Amino acid sequence: MRYCVIGEKLTHSMSPQIHKAYFDYYKMKSSYGIEQIPMQDMLSGDCEQVLRGYDGFNVTVPYKEKVMKYLAGISAEAKSIGAVNTVVNSNGSLYGYNTDPYGFENLLKSNGIKIKDCSFVILGSGGASKSVKYILKKRGANSVLVATRDAEKAKEDGFISYDLLKNYKANALINTTPVGMYPNSDGCPVSEDIIVNFDSVVDIVYNPVYTNLLQTAVKLGKKAVGGLYMLVAQAMKSQEIWSNNLTDSKLTKKIYNSLMKEYFAKNGGNIYLTGIMSCGKTVKGKKVAEKLGWEFVDADKYIEELFGESIPQMFEKGEDYFRQCESEAIYRLSQRKNLVVATGGGAILKDVNVSAMKLSGIIVLIERNLEDIIASVNTQTRPLLKDGADKLRKIYKERKQRYYDTCDVVVKSHEYDMYKTVNDIVKVIL
Ligand code: ATR
Repeated sequence: MRYCVIGEKLTHSMSPQIHKAYFDYYKMKSSYGIEQIPMQDMLSGDCEQVLRGYDGFNVTVPYKEKVMKYLAGISAEAKSIGAVNTVVNSNGSLYGYNTDPYGFENLLKSNGIKIKDCSFVILGSGGASKSVKYILKKRGANSVLVATRDAEKAKEDGFISYDLLKNYKANALINTTPVGMYPNSDGCPVSEDIIVNFDSVVDIVYNPVYTNLLQTAVKLGKKAVGGLYMLVAQAMKSQEIWSNNLTDSKLTKKIYNSLMKEYFAKNGGNIYLTGIMSCGKTVKGKKVAEKLGWEFVDADKYIEELFGESIPQMFEKGEDYFRQCESEAIYRLSQRKNLVVATGGGAILKDVNVSAMKLSGIIVLIERNLEDIIASVNTQTRPLLKDGADKLRKIYKERKQRYYDTCDVVVKSHEYDMYKTVNDIVKVIL
């Protein structure tokens, strides 16, 4: 089968890579190319022969609406959004769908952001904004407001002007504008006094991964989510329409992980080692850093240096105080590149820390048998462990799921072969 993406300028499209990974996984012989179509050909109908030559195609800006005149039928969803991003050629007739709402819903799902009964503000009122609004409403959001620069539109029901946003609080802020996108990565669609009013910030921009908006959100202690997973998920849903294979969330994650790996290998990023205390983050982390020629950072030591206090001293002021210092430290580390960071055992407890790490590198969970740890740990020198092994067992039980939920990759600790573990970690980025 032959597929492609159509658009006006497609030099930076990641779609061919995503769909090729899909074909490879299912051992399919299909191809996926790019088809740049000049605006004039799109409007005049001169591109029709080219379009019909494919078994299916995706549609990107600025043709998501303009493509509709070539279609024999449009799904109810695409009709209601007013945009098509997926077309299937069925015996010579073209039918349009929109998989962006599915992509966005799965972006939120995979990051644990609830829709039902929650309130949202969407920045921008273009095509992506309509898909986002559609699915938020469909899944029972309590309120959805769209911020627009258009003064007339801002007066309409469901819209708001940017200057009124400062007084508005909601659960999540979603950016669907191109502000902050490569190569204009310095841009940020809203200022800190607006961002501070939300619990979570989602940017559907995926290049750069860690946009200026998301960096500011993390600095302010917010959960922050980038848009690459949405791109992969909507592509998987297009494949489901073309091939009738049900979408597999494991494959979505696998392709997403390989794109992130490539991105960080090319643009620089960090490796964050997580896992319960004494799982080997420091010992193995140092070896990994040596192999990569990167800097090793022990996050706990880094926090102590940054705040001029020892960790037990910080804990004396309350665990909350320590966790706040920890978040500030992780934010600072997320601004740097090519570090191997051994995180503290509880770093993954706060969403903001996980966001900072995910957006600036790859989180690797070192999985080591708890009883092996208990046999080797000195419980006297760990502030959380004054009460001994049972306390460690209890903490592990409480945190185990969180470790698995927050990591990108799990690497097993091989008790008698440290270098195997080290090599497995190095492979995460190389
Ligand atoms: P898409 O159609 O894929 O959603 P787009 O049309 O490039 O992408 O941009 C989406 C929306 O972002 C635009 O419709 C515009 O919405 P408003 O006119 O309602 O504000 C918004 N947008 C585009 N460029 C912008 C900019 N430089 N600053 C702020 N918002 C912008």
